Amino acid sequence: MAMTKIKTIGILTSGGDAPGMNAAIRAVTRAGIYNGFNIKGIYRGYDGLIKDEVQAFTTENVSGIITRGGTILKTARSKEFMTMEGMTKAYETCQKEEIDALVVIGGNGSLTGARNFGMEFDFPVIGLPGTIDNDLYGTDNTIGYDTTMNTIMECVDRIRDTANSHERIFFVEVMGRDAGFLAQNSAIACGAEAAIIPEEMTEDDQLAEFMGRGIRKSKKSCIVIVSESPKCGALYYADRVKKEFPEYDVRVSILGHLQRGGSPTARDRILASRTGVGAIEAIKQGQRNVMVGVRNNEVVYVPFSECIRTDKPFDKKLIKVLDELSI
Ligand code: F6P
Repeated sequence: MAMTKIKTIGILTSGGDAPGMNAAIRAVTRAGIYNGFNIKGIYRGYDGLIKDEVQAFTTENVSGIITRGGTILKTARSKEFMTMEGMTKAYETCQKEEIDALVVIGGNGSLTGARNFGMEFDFPVIGLPGTIDNDLYGTDNTIGYDTTMNTIMECVDRIRDTANSHERIFFVEVMGRDAGFLAQNSAIACGAEAAIIPEEMTEDDQLAEFMGRGIRKSKKSCIVIVSESPKCGALYYADRVKKEFPEYDVRVSILGHLQRGGSPTARDRILASRTGVGAIEAIKQGQRNVMVGVRNNEVVYVPFSECIRTDKPFDKKLIKVLDELSI
């Protein structure tokens, strides 16, 4: 495979959908065709690659999609692709469809699959960071993160009206899997009083610390943004406050999947377009097994091994920003 001249590029989306994935599909397709490649869309992520759900794409297949959330290619979290048998079937589809390289748009799990496949079959794979969580090392932002942040901000602005009117404490749960980027930054953007994030899950109790500061010194209502967590999400903290401080009127709002949909912001469309063009450039340069990101406003190529292995650093100064502004 190593020396094959690349003629046809397959593209798929994998893992949780993220606003801007369509803009990325469009960019890879159009830049690919512009540069003389054939493009094939693979439906339903790695599952579709295993089952040969493949369609040749022209520029028309991607018209009018830059404005749309979700992914026209559909997506899945494939268990089968995690097995050698599944990967082998996927490789057979690539041979049958004459796909010489893959572009995978997805988060951590999807890029781990991309790395394993690339290494196992000596196959050129390029990744694009598509996840609302922003937890991929090597890129300042991931595709979808900005839109989700704006969606959370709109929702919390509305919740604020009720919190103010009823003088309540609201615990608002946001997504982010194991990362607090969405929670911390949306808290800053919404003027929330606190954020409870996985990066601070040390022996210090974030709720006790927050309550200890005296939440109602200058305010009668407050909003705490909580990162999702199977054990201690918004419901857990609300229950504790209800028990420990029965005088407070407490409510919970779990934003859930409404955070993942919607038309992408300009920032996400531009990030998707730049990294999509960057993916084709990478293939032309003979690069493989790298993720295309944008760091300090420059397109960068980060080896999969690095972006998967390394935890994205969380800027602890953001905690200070929120603390100082929420008095
Ligand atoms: O990775 C994106 C994400 O939205 C996470 O923030 C969240 O934990 C997860 O996906 C939810 O996945 P699902 O849509 O499969 O429930």
